[in-house]
This record gives sequence, C-alpha cells and structure tokens, in this order.
Amino acid sequence: MKHIDILQAIKQRRSIHNFKQEEVKEVILKEIFTYGSYAPTHYMKEPWNIKLFQKEGKQAFVDAIIASYQRIGMLKEDDDPKTQKMIASMRDFLLAVPQHALIYFEKEEDPVRYEEEYAAVCAFIQNTQLAAWEYGVGMLWTVTPYMHDEGFVEDIGLDSKRMKVAAVMQIGYPERVPRDRGRNRIEDKLEIISE
Ligand SMILES: Cc1cc2nc3c(=O)[nH]c(=O)nc-3n(C[C@H](O)[C@H](O)[C@H](O)COP(=O)(O)O)c2cc1C
Repeated sequence: MKHIDILQAIKQRRSIHNFKQEEVKEVILKEIFTYGSYAPTHYMKEPWNIKLFQKEGKQAFVDAIIASYQRIGMLKEDDDPKTQKMIASMRDFLLAVPQHALIYFEKEEDPVRYEEEYAAVCAFIQNTQLAAWEYGVGMLWTVTPYMHDEGFVEDIGLDSKRMKVAAVMQIGYPERVPRDRGRNRIEDKLEIISE
C-alpha cells in the first residue's frame, strides 16, 4: 500500500464514477469504516450506521430504488418497451457498482440535535472517503431522491419514522480517476476579523 500524507489525500481524493468489477474485501472495508468512525461526534453518540449491499444483496436494494422512482413518478410503471429499457439500464448501472454503503442515523426530535447528528455523520463519510483513498478504494457520495421516500426506507428494512438515510456511498476500485478541477481561492470566502 502506498502511503500518502493526509494533506495530499485531502487534495488528491476524487469522487469516483467508474469502478472496476472487483469488490473491496470486507476486512478492508471494515478498516476503512473504522477510520471513518474517528470522526468528531457530540456526546460521543457515533450516530452513523451502515448497510453494505454487495453481491446478491444488491438485487433487493436496486429493486427498492426502482420501486421508489416509480412511486415518486421519476420512472413510469407501464410495459412500454421504452420504460422497460430505462428500468433495465438503471438496474444494470446500479448492479455494476461493486458495493453500495447506505449510511443512516437515528432521527432526533430536537432540530439542533438533529443537525449535530447529521453533521457527525457527514464527518464520518468524509473521513471514510479519505481513508478509502489511502487504500486505493474509490467512493462516490450520493444523495438521491429515493432516500427521502419513506417507502424506500421501509423496503430496505428500516423504520422510516426513526431512521434517516444520509447518503449512499458507491464503492469500488477506480477504473478512472477524474481530473482535479481545483477549488476557488479560500481568500474569496475568508473574512478575518482581528479587532
Ligand atoms: C452531500 C453530497 C452529495 C453528493 N451527491 C452526489 C450525487 O448524487 N451524484 C454525484 O455524482 N456526485 C455527488 N456528490 C459528489 C460531488 O459531485 C463531488 O464531490 C464534486 O463534484 C467534487 O468532486 P470531487 O469530490 O472529486 O472533488 C455529492 C457530494 C456531496 C458532498
């Protein structure tokens, strides 16, 4: 494993859209998620939970996504060959991603607490992405309409009243790493108040 400095990892990590067919071994993913879990967490709540869909486990996950898109009107439900083609290509695309990690947390009644838990989960996700990069593993952080659909949350076996899906990470070894598009100068966003 090539060791890269954390500062380099922060800059060099890219969102990966194209994956090799090879799966990331469970022991490696456990190590990566362990690094993720060193994220800061108010009250030591460690609010993150992960459902990892891989191998045949992806089938029901993808079925739930398609059913959700039909429920919310993003996909039609008829037998029209056009509709069937769209469904088939979406299914193929999602099944081609080696692993999907759905990240969820328990909802809080209090909006401040809710924000804190979501913030900690996002810190977990970014730590995870950076650790993955160190292992040569690529990820794509996705937030998509089905995550906000209660029916989808129930279909994957979670209580939608209690649980919130924060993201789904697409995971695998990068087939292609996109070029670095850089970032704007921080000076444009930084206001220093010294007195
Ligand atoms: C909260 C969040 C949600 C995102 N959702 C998506 C998504 O649904 N689809 C996608 O292609 N990229 C998604 N991204 C990734 C961004 O597109 C990506 O970070 C951005 O283009 C910068 O590229 P880089 O990560 O390679 O630097 C998301 C990123 C964040 C932080």
